[in-house]
Amino acid sequence: MTSTVAEPEFVAQFEAAIAAKDRVEPRDWMPEAYRKTLIRQVAQHAHSEIIGMQPEGNWIGRAPSLRRKAILLAKVQDEAGHGLYLYSAAETLGASRQHLTDQLIAGAQKYSSIFNYPTLSYADVGVIGWLVDGAAICNQVPLCRTSFGPYGRAMIRICKEESFHQRQGFELLMTMMRGTDEQRAMVQESVNRFWWPALMMFGPPDEDSTNTEQSMAWGIKTHTNDELRQRFVDMSIPQAKILGVTFPDPDLRWNEERQSHDFGEIDWDEFWAVVKGDGPCNAQRLAHRRKARDDGNWVRDAARAFAAKQQQEQEQEATA
Ligand code: 3HC
Repeated sequence: MTSTVAEPEFVAQFEAAIAAKDRVEPRDWMPEAYRKTLIRQVAQHAHSEIIGMQPEGNWIGRAPSLRRKAILLAKVQDEAGHGLYLYSAAETLGASRQHLTDQLIAGAQKYSSIFNYPTLSYADVGVIGWLVDGAAICNQVPLCRTSFGPYGRAMIRICKEESFHQRQGFELLMTMMRGTDEQRAMVQESVNRFWWPALMMFGPPDEDSTNTEQSMAWGIKTHTNDELRQRFVDMSIPQAKILGVTFPDPDLRWNEERQSHDFGEIDWDEFWAVVKGDGPCNAQRLAHRRKARDDGNWVRDAARAFAAKQQQEQEQEATA
């Protein structure tokens, strides 16, 4: 039942489902603001998966071996699949994939800040797998229990694949760290560029997060941005030690009292500039996405023409 009329029993059913941590399904009544915030988050997530194919796709033609190329191809293809699961989840809320893509290309919807940064060396493929997919897992495992059914179920599958992506990144970096001084320097240089943007992926600090409180009340989010960012910092430090790299933060240290690591101030001016569309690669990312959409128009036109012809034939048969 998708009526927008807030019949008291529908509201009560929705609130009871949220309180019991049951899933809300597409045919259930839901407040329009719940639907709207989910479309916003799921669409932004879907766009991130699709735009996220570009920085790593940049290296497919220059992978150092056939094995690395096959791994990278599989990973980038997985991201396309993640985007499709998420657009499908958004469609169950009444937002078509085409409309959402148009909104992205027009700059009316966002994608993750992290994909605004360029990939300058092959070490970036490993660092994206380790840190970016690592941050994504940290943020997305809790989303497997999100209150909206199709989103939560999509996340279960996505998280399994993201774990593989994180492992392949770590394995690539381990291999490079066992290599030459030049390779080790390449890894460290890449970590230096990606560490802070990876921390920004979790969103603004809690006091500046406009959506967290309501999203948590609705069970869409189950943790705040700062909680997940802290979890990511704590989990990354022992991994960095195993790899033999350091993070570019002189304030990073263990805090015995908090039983967590303290870390330095994130450059929030940079974050907001990226979020508002001034990211270093934003124009390039959107131009590439626009071209991909336009290049695919003939396929959509052909599919629409085929569907219209089939319908016409069915109508003719019915009236014959
Ligand atoms: N990049 C771009 N915009 C961001 C952002 C980021 N890293 N973090 C926050 N924002 C935006 C929000 O969208 C919001 O703007 P809006 O109201 O106009 O939409 C504004 O900044 C304020 O942030 P909030 O904290 O209020 O926003 P949310 O409550 O939505 O929290 C979030 C932000 C934590 C990113 C949350 O939306 C979320 O968990 N999303 C699902 C996960 C996701 O989208 N991940 C993207 C990465 S996908 C990926 O990593 C692919 C993998 O292959 C690596």
